[in-house]
Amino acid sequence: MCADKTAKLSVNGKEYDLPMMSPVMGPDVVDIRKLYDEADVFTFDPGFTSTAACKSAITYIDGDKGELLYRGYPIEQLAAESTHLEVCFLLLYGELPTKAQMEDFTSRITRHTMVHEQMHYFFRGFRRDSHPMATMVGVVGAMSAFYHDSLDITDPWQREVAAMRMIAKLPTIAAMAYKYSVGQPFVYPKNSLSYAANFLHMCFAVPTEDYVVNPVLEKAMDRIMMLHADHEQNASTSTVRLAGSSGANPFACIAAGIACLWGPAHGGANQACLEMLREIGTVDRIPEYIAKAKDKNSGFRLMGFGHRVYKNFDPRATVMKESADEVLELLGIHNNPTLQVAKELERIALSDDYFISKKLYPNVDFYSGIILDAMGFPTSMFTPIFAISRTVGWISQWKEMITENGKIGRPRQLYVGPQKRDYVDVRHR
Ligand code: SDX
Repeated sequence: MCADKTAKLSVNGKEYDLPMMSPVMGPDVVDIRKLYDEADVFTFDPGFTSTAACKSAITYIDGDKGELLYRGYPIEQLAAESTHLEVCFLLLYGELPTKAQMEDFTSRITRHTMVHEQMHYFFRGFRRDSHPMATMVGVVGAMSAFYHDSLDITDPWQREVAAMRMIAKLPTIAAMAYKYSVGQPFVYPKNSLSYAANFLHMCFAVPTEDYVVNPVLEKAMDRIMMLHADHEQNASTSTVRLAGSSGANPFACIAAGIACLWGPAHGGANQACLEMLREIGTVDRIPEYIAKAKDKNSGFRLMGFGHRVYKNFDPRATVMKESADEVLELLGIHNNPTLQVAKELERIALSDDYFISKKLYPNVDFYSGIILDAMGFPTSMFTPIFAISRTVGWISQWKEMITENGKIGRPRQLYVGPQKRDYVDVRHR
């Protein structure tokens, strides 16, 4: 990055030259690290709409072009040509693997898919009707109580083992959370299956009969995982980075990311979106919901619509929409009412001045729920599947932050509370 540019800032009658840095792609940044020391002022950016919190070489998003690159590779090409595990290698190590590297990586992940047998008892502490995200936050955080040989973040080998364990075990833990919620026995991973097929098998197999994974669903699941793998400095990734900046162990950091992802404004939107589409029910009720979404007082938003960065289409939604058509067709699910409502809602919204003016387009969560529902997942499993996929992105960003030996993240504030005042005894209040 070249730093030959400066930004001029005038504060309280004094001029300051702030260095600027230019990225490989995207906007230049103004380096304000010395601003407070030199000018005794903070910048103010509560939602981080104009703030670059870090340098990163992992994922690039161009919100105007609707472009998403993992280590420079367009998401559309990866979704068409790659696999989730190959994308995991790419995000973790920066390059597409050779055949030998991929075989070794696949073998390492495959041999870490089982969880410590004692962890089965963790699930017993949860109510059967617990949301699987609650279970995952608890059980993933508890991994730090079991895997003591991969907690030292200063040891590259322990960081690597923790990364393998989480990428490998998140599907197992999510499947266990699902099985526990439906009262069925846990299904062990099968090393003969692909990453996506293994997850489907652990969710839907039962001990009483053979379960053969449908290759259409296996491919669709793998593509869904690729599409959700990483996304620059989104809320949950920023949570993982902030937790990691204190030196917390990797399992605790990923548990923090899962907790943040759960929110309906973030990863929880896929569940909220399908529930919204089901509530709308039929195409003729769409105008009523469009009107609610435009009414500030309604508190209602079209779930699966809008994005902080994409002010044009979300490239993942485009791929997901194609995948939804393909999966439902191949499963013989014709005229799916929810898909019909989704497509008509998209058509109407994209021709409505409110959505056009605010640049609101379907995001990654708009169609994913339709595919997952067709696969047989309850809506409560949609965000856990997002968490499985995003684990590699969280870990890749966490590793990048750790190896940069960054400072602990500690934002300041604009204080608007009471002036200094003396304590008043209760008899005089
Ligand atoms: C994900 O950051 C990431 O990269 C996230 C993610 C990832 O891969 O990690 O891409 C995954 O989280 C996708 C987003 C899923 N969330 C939803 O679908 C929930 C619905 N969408 C919104 O809540 C909203 O669009 C956000 C949270 C996604 C983005 O919010 P911003 O950027 O803070 O925008 P905003 O809330 O300030 O909204 C801007 C305007 C507002 O109107 P005004 O106050 O300017 O008049 O647009 C309106 C909003 O009221 N608006 C919507 C809307 N989203 C924004 N109005 C109706 N329906 C919506 N969905």
